[in-house]
Formats: sequence, C-alpha cells, structure tokens
Amino acid sequence: MTLNILFSAADESWPAYQDLLPQTLDDIGIPTLVRRDFAPQDVDYIVYAPDGPTLDFGAFNRARAVLGLWAGVEKIVTNPTLHLPLARMVDCGLSEGMVEWVTGHVLRHHLGIDKYIRPARRDWTPDYPVLARDRSVAILGLGQLGQACAQALQSLNFNVLGWSRRKRSPDNIAAYHGTDGLDAVLRRAEILVLLLPLTDATRNIIDEQSLGKMPRQAVIMNPGRGALIDDDALIRALDSGQLAHATLDVFRVEPLPDSHPFWHHPQITVTPHIAAQTRPKTACQVIAENIRRDQAGEEMQYLVDRSAGY
Ligand code: NDP
Ligand code: OXD
Repeated sequence: MTLNILFSAADESWPAYQDLLPQTLDDIGIPTLVRRDFAPQDVDYIVYAPDGPTLDFGAFNRARAVLGLWAGVEKIVTNPTLHLPLARMVDCGLSEGMVEWVTGHVLRHHLGIDKYIRPARRDWTPDYPVLARDRSVAILGLGQLGQACAQALQSLNFNVLGWSRRKRSPDNIAAYHGTDGLDAVLRRAEILVLLLPLTDATRNIIDEQSLGKMPRQAVIMNPGRGALIDDDALIRALDSGQLAHATLDVFRVEPLPDSHPFWHHPQITVTPHIAAQTRPKTACQVIAENIRRDQAGEEMQYLVDRSAGY
C-alpha cells in the first residue's frame, strides 16, 4: 500500500525534501507519495514545520501522526485542533550544529577574543585567559542539545554544570534540577547557555531576579527560544555591568525587527536563528524510521509529552 505524506513546511524547504523523502522511505521498503496538496482526508502522515501552511489539524481523519521537522514544538504543542501523536525532530545535524555554535561562542568569551580583533591601540600587556578548567559554564536544559554541548565543553576541560526538570546524571557533568538546583547553577554561571524548550514553566525564566544571582560580568547565550529571557531585564543587566555580554540567536519576534534595541546594543551579539538547522538527509532518515516503526506497530521515537509542553 502506498502511504500519502503531506509536506507542510515552508516553500523553500520543499526542493530539499521532494525527492529525498520518498526515496528514503522507498529504500526501507515503504512506498509513498509525498506532496504538498493532498486533501486532508487522504493523508497518512503530516511532515510539519511551524513555517508551513497547516494550522488546523481537525480534518485529517485518517492521519496517524504529525512528524515535526523542528526540535522546538512551542508553536504546535498547544494547538487545540491537534489530537494526533506529535513527534519532534532529533537529528544529529541539529546536535552537531548546536555544539559548534555554542562551543565557538563560549570560546570567544572565554578567551576574550574580541579584545584582539582590531584593537584600538597597540597594547602589549599580557593578560592571560584563565584555563577552561577554571571557567564555569552552566547549561539550562540537559536534553538532546544541552547534553551534546555539555559533553563537548567538558571535553575542552570547562567546568560544566547543567540543569534539567527531572534528575539527570550525564557523565562528568555536575547536574542539578528543581528550584534550588537552578539557584546553585546560576550562582556559578560565568557563562550561561540556554537550551530549554519554551513552555509555561520556562517563559521568562531569565528575569531580573535570576540575572541578579549570576556572578558579576557573566555572559549569557541564548540559542533556545527568545521568550526564555525578559528582554528589558537583560538590557538593564548589561547596562549596569551585571552582565558583560549576551549572544542571542533566537527572539520573541523573528526576524528581529529593525527597531529592536538588541540590534544596536554594544554588548549584544545577534545571530539570525542559525545556531542549528535540521539537515534534510538525516531528518528524512528520522522521519522514515518513525513511519516504519508506526507501520510495524512499534512506538515512534521522540514523541512530545503534550502535558509537559516539549
Ligand atoms: P529536549 O527536549 O531534548 O531537552 C529539553 C531539556 O530542557 C531537558 O533536559 C528538559 O528536562 C529541560 N527542561 C524542560 N522544561 C524544564 C523546566 N521547566 N525546568 C528545567 N528543565 C527543563 O530538547 P532539545 O535539547 O532537543 O532542544 C532544546 C531547545 O533548543 C528546543 O526546544 C528549541 O527551542 C531549541 N532549538 C534551537 C535551535 C536554534 O537553531 N537556535 C535549533 C534546535 C532547537 P528533562 O531532561 O528533565 O526533560
Ligand atoms: C528548531 C529550531 O526548533 O531550528 O528546530 O529552532
């Protein structure tokens, strides 16, 4: 039997998936038609991204699941028309990209690289950076991406602390959870990396109070989601010297509006939501494997816990 897969993502992603997705499924013996224009009642699986057209899932009577192309699900998880199982994207391309973005930006601040790029004057005052072993990097979120980043930083000898909702014990990482755990992590976070999903429990988690707990002149990096941070509190913390710098990849409104103060603030680096990207080749394998599992009566991978919101 041929399965009908609706591809509901941005027009720009279609060329990358149009042939690759049916081919990947064909390679594991599952014949499919992958199109952007099936009638809802004819669809077996929906491949979804928040930048695609599908907002109302109510008419997909025969569909078995929504298979997300993104890791973050905050734009779909509360959709009242969605009653189908929802799987999110866990892709080695996403993890590798995030590790590279986080490691690069951590090293920038750890080594004080900015100081040596076009210095204002010829200054030969030796000012050795501390070793990574003497620098604490805290990661909020110890999931697929947080753990990958924690391991990479740990292998460079950084003193890595992590925080998650449930108790976790990743190798060589000082792991915390709960409210007390958050305090303990923030108090030592010379560099803080946000890799939490956006949920009711994490919105504005970085506010005036939490910023005040961090060591003075700390650095914050947000490749998670914009609304994890209270924007105004962030600017106040930078202006007062509580924070030295913020490197931000994600924003409440994207693209970041021209008039937004983040663009002009001297202690803020903006990257345009490029920290990590789903790579079509590996993403097609993840989707194909989930369809295979579902068709074989096995549980799908990476199912979203709708009540937790991620
Ligand atoms: P996971 O679901 O694998 O991990 C989420 C982590 O956050 C888990 O450790 C989870 O805890 C923790 N967490 C969730 N809620 C809370 C809470 N209330 N308190 C404490 N910890 C909490 O997600 P990923 O690692 O795959 O992705 C993380 C986020 O990164 C995505 O949701 C997305 O927003 C963002 N992202 C950004 C990209 C970019 O290009 N900028 C690209 C891809 C993703 P527990 O382990 O206990 O479940
Ligand atoms: C994602 C993202 O969630 O790219 O996958 O932000």
